[in-house]
Amino acid sequence: MLGQIEFDRFYVKGEGCYLIDDKGDRYLDFLSGFGVFALGRGHPAIVQALHDALDADLPNLVQMDCALLPGVLAQELVARSHPGIERVFFTNSGAEAVESAIKFARSATKRTRILYCDHAFHGLTTGALSLNGGREFRSGFGPLLPGCDMIPFGDASALARELRRGDVAAFIAEPIQGKGVNMASEDFWQEAQSLCRRHKALMILDEVQAGMGRSGTFFCHEQFGITPDIITVSKALSGGYVPVGAMLCTETVSDSVFSSMDRAVVHSSTFSTNQLAMVAGLATLQAFEDEDILDRVRRTGKAFTKALDPLVEKYEFLHEVRGMGLMIGLVFGEPTTPALRRRFRMIEALRSALFSQMIVLPLFHRHRILTQVAADNMNVIKLLPPLIAGDDEVELFADALDDVLSSAQQGSSLIFEFGKTMARGTLHKARL
Ligand SMILES: Cc1ncc(COP(=O)(O)O)c(C=O)c1O
Repeated sequence: MLGQIEFDRFYVKGEGCYLIDDKGDRYLDFLSGFGVFALGRGHPAIVQALHDALDADLPNLVQMDCALLPGVLAQELVARSHPGIERVFFTNSGAEAVESAIKFARSATKRTRILYCDHAFHGLTTGALSLNGGREFRSGFGPLLPGCDMIPFGDASALARELRRGDVAAFIAEPIQGKGVNMASEDFWQEAQSLCRRHKALMILDEVQAGMGRSGTFFCHEQFGITPDIITVSKALSGGYVPVGAMLCTETVSDSVFSSMDRAVVHSSTFSTNQLAMVAGLATLQAFEDEDILDRVRRTGKAFTKALDPLVEKYEFLHEVRGMGLMIGLVFGEPTTPALRRRFRMIEALRSALFSQMIVLPLFHRHRILTQVAADNMNVIKLLPPLIAGDDEVELFADALDDVLSSAQQGSSLIFEFGKTMARGTLHKARL
């Protein structure tokens, strides 16, 4: 697929918001490795901390000990959470944090049913996949976990209806959905929380993508004024360097799992507290403070809005710019002018949501900016710039998008460019 669209570069260096390939070309990275390199690539303090940890070579993963670093990182995470969140279980990935949340919620409530949202993405291990709101991911892997039911994202009455059955262990949701950069109203979040409390179900906020500063606050749900029972994080936690995730929860939830000596090891994961992940995590959190990351995200988020909103006015193809902080969705759709609408429909007739793909390609090939379509069958481009991005990156991106959208508006050159890339990609594949 990457060959087909000629994205198959060989990158040899990463510097902050930029990637450099083997030909010396520099690319603006608005994927950040799907959000993990939140502090940019080659972050000196994180790299140094990892070198120091390797040099110190302290005993790692003794397992039958009381290791210091996981405790310190857990304390740092708890300190950034709302009162009531007191326990942290480390994992190797976002999906594993979600798996833990499923188990802990079932254990704490003695109930089995989990509610999730349409378009939800919580990872692709079997349990997390059972909470996936997209058919394209689930197909071919069933039967998945029983007792998992989908409700429309942001629909409090559907949530109330399901909760009334009295068998729901938890409602899980992303504060901003990664697949589509979809958002629910603040009212929904408040109501969802009070409904869960009333029906004694737990609320799990999956902050794997929107959390750790991306929205402008450490956890995105802080901005909705809610206090979930379980929180999952991963991606940015180690600054991208070492796989790591964490499930944060209340003492009651944790104690329901580890409720006796016999149950002391009922949930564990061999590498979860590995030292390099913990060191990278601590260095990342320290860098958040030292570099005033949350404030920067809020400022750069506003700069994006200021630069991109005028393009919504200027181009009929661009319907909306949505998101929070530096999780941004560019929503494309049918123009109103008949000639433009015909062109849009012609492209969409080839494949649904092809239009946004046609924008991603010239952003990359003409302007060397790496972005992605937010989800299958959705005309939304998602931007996940490193949280250290600033005015220069905003300007580079806005100018590039302006140029590409102006081509789309003016004529069919973009279609030819797209066709040429695909044809070259096919030839290249045939030669291989
Ligand atoms: C909200 C959310 N939850 C969970 C996951 C799964 O994380 P991982 O790929 O580390 O398993 C992702 C990954 O994109 C995600 O965005």
